[in-house]
Amino acid sequence: MSISRPRSRIYGTGRYVPSHVLTNQDLECMVDTTDAWITERTGIKERHIAGEGEVTSDMAAAAGRAALEMAGIPASKLSMIIVGTISPDTPMPACAVHVQQKLGAGTCPSFDLSAACAGFLYGMSIADQFIRSGQGGYILVVGVELLSRILNWKDRTTCVLFGDGAGAVVLGPSDEGPEVERPRGVLATKLYTDGSLAEALVIPGGGSREPLTPEALAASRNKVHMSGQEIFKVAVKNLTSATKESLDAAGMLPEQVDWVVAHQANLRILNQVAARLAIPPERFILNIERYGNTSSASIPIALDEAVRDGRIQPGHNLAMCALGAGISWGGAVVRF
Ligand code: UT7
Repeated sequence: MSISRPRSRIYGTGRYVPSHVLTNQDLECMVDTTDAWITERTGIKERHIAGEGEVTSDMAAAAGRAALEMAGIPASKLSMIIVGTISPDTPMPACAVHVQQKLGAGTCPSFDLSAACAGFLYGMSIADQFIRSGQGGYILVVGVELLSRILNWKDRTTCVLFGDGAGAVVLGPSDEGPEVERPRGVLATKLYTDGSLAEALVIPGGGSREPLTPEALAASRNKVHMSGQEIFKVAVKNLTSATKESLDAAGMLPEQVDWVVAHQANLRILNQVAARLAIPPERFILNIERYGNTSSASIPIALDEAVRDGRIQPGHNLAMCALGAGISWGGAVVRF
């Protein structure tokens, strides 16, 4: 006897970005850079920066609240909270613990997931597996980063790239019966890691390998260090292959994709991925110009914007892909 397992589907999306905007012109006064360089090399014009006293879980809870409201589900009905982040409030306990408290979500298991810019896709894939196995209920998946506090504001090769923000989805078991021809939900996810590139994007200090000393702090060993070009090349290749592999797993062709909701690290990366996939760049949801690279938050922020402004409609086929430190990357296909 075959037991049919529920597919997971997205019931609500939400986002939060801090109100303070830091423009490229502002950065020109802080480091040796220009608006022209940042715009041409990355596509970024401005990014949002968290206010003093604002912490990661504040942003995550705000995005989560918006997603729950759209889903019409009270926080007390959540069966799990997964937060993708590398910039939690505290090294211990998890950011998700604070999110649970801020949302009033009862005692559901709540944990962080460290997969950097791929954190949201990793979280969505895990939530999908729980729901497919029948243990799901409603799961809140958040991607959130407060990167401005872990950047070296004297390093022009990194500080101009990133921004703060949070995005969230509520996933739950599909309410559609087996008779539905084009079921909505998470159709496929593919995740990968290549640890041989671990040093290409790293916060080297502050862990067991390099405990923090006054010298390490002075050398900004507790801040983000990146070999940009190395990551660029592998990003184009791996984002393309992960998207193709997840489309294959979903039995879908690139021309059937309505929207690509990709991690926003660099406009040039996304244009090259679009060309390799033969998907017109107009079908990419782009907001890097206004937010910069918000790491794990970038996919759910872009998703929420496009859902709320009506570009993404129920039944649309979405291809998602992300890559970041690890390197960890992945792809997903979702029928919204
Ligand atoms: O989200 C996680 C994954 N991260 C990524 O996917 C990021 C991938 N990498 C990138 O997006 C790009 O490599 C960067 C945007 C980080 C850098 O762009 P690039 O075209 O690869 O520049 P580059 O590192 O080759 O640097 C070119 C020049 C260098 O000067 P010289 O050596 O040619 O004289 C840099 O020193 O640009 C210089 N440069 C800058 N100039 C003005 C580097 N940063 C800046 C800056 N302003 N902010």
